[in-house]
Amino acid sequence: MFRLDGKTALVTGASQGIGRAVAKLLAAQGAKVVVAARSEDKLAVLCSEIEAAGGQALALRLDLSQPESVGDQIATLPEEFSDIGILVNNAGITDDTLLARMKLEQWERVLTTNLTGTFVVTKSVLRGMVRQRWGRIISVSSVVGMMGNPGQANYAASKAGLIGFSKSVAKELGSRSITCNVVAPGFIETAMTADLPEKGREELEAGIALRRLGSVDDIAAAVLYLASDEGAYVTGHVLNVSGGLYI
Ligand SMILES: NC(=O)c1ccc[n+]([C@@H]2O[C@H](COP(=O)([O-])OP(=O)(O)OC[C@H]3O[C@@H](n4cnc5c(N)ncnc54)[C@H](OP(=O)(O)O)[C@@H]3O)[C@@H](O)[C@H]2O)c1
Repeated sequence: MFRLDGKTALVTGASQGIGRAVAKLLAAQGAKVVVAARSEDKLAVLCSEIEAAGGQALALRLDLSQPESVGDQIATLPEEFSDIGILVNNAGITDDTLLARMKLEQWERVLTTNLTGTFVVTKSVLRGMVRQRWGRIISVSSVVGMMGNPGQANYAASKAGLIGFSKSVAKELGSRSITCNVVAPGFIETAMTADLPEKGREELEAGIALRRLGSVDDIAAAVLYLASDEGAYVTGHVLNVSGGLYI
């Protein structure tokens, strides 16, 4: 179950956190994985780890804040990694402040990386999926895209945008056996949450039905399901992986 042998995956934002865990799990399940981000040194370490475990990986420098250049960069992939069947749009940033103080530049920076970035990467791999008559597009949104969050109007808009985008693409491409889904994490243990003071952490946990933060592996497992053949009949879906933070 959940094997990905013979498939090639592209994971954006793979240099750390959730994307790194996703890339490692997809590789462990047999996929060749293109790991994309700006931090080439971190990507090189990840590729070595995947290869040491018997997998195949290739680093791709991709800067989603420069969407015009993304298509050309993806076109440079060598033939053995160019048939992308699984795309995980995971790269994302925050730039938080209350709306009254938010500058246009902050709005645009977050929307460009999180939403326009997903648009350009997805377009760049689409033709290959149509040719294969098989594809899995999975975008990492956030429960904040559905709940809203003070100080995150830009981020929440970008994450809600991914949901509308994915539902539309699901309808456009379903006839080609290409599925398009969203994974919406809640609070996940990452570098960002590691520094929380004990009290802040307890308050966070009190709002979560399962009374704990999620792990990057919780998210990777959800992505794997949607990427696999076992997830073939699920499309246009938003899978909340939030421990019941959002129900
Ligand atoms: N952590 C959470 O609690 C949580 C909750 C809900 C949703 N999410 C979502 O899950 C995804 C991953 O989150 P995370 O916590 O793992 O974040 P993270 O640790 O900050 O990692 C973000 C990733 O995105 C990449 N990235 C940022 N800007 C980029 C750009 N301009 N071009 C290309 N890549 C870029 C970063 O790589 P480089 O810096 O090397 O480019 C990094 O690999 C994000 O979309 C986030 O919104 C996270």
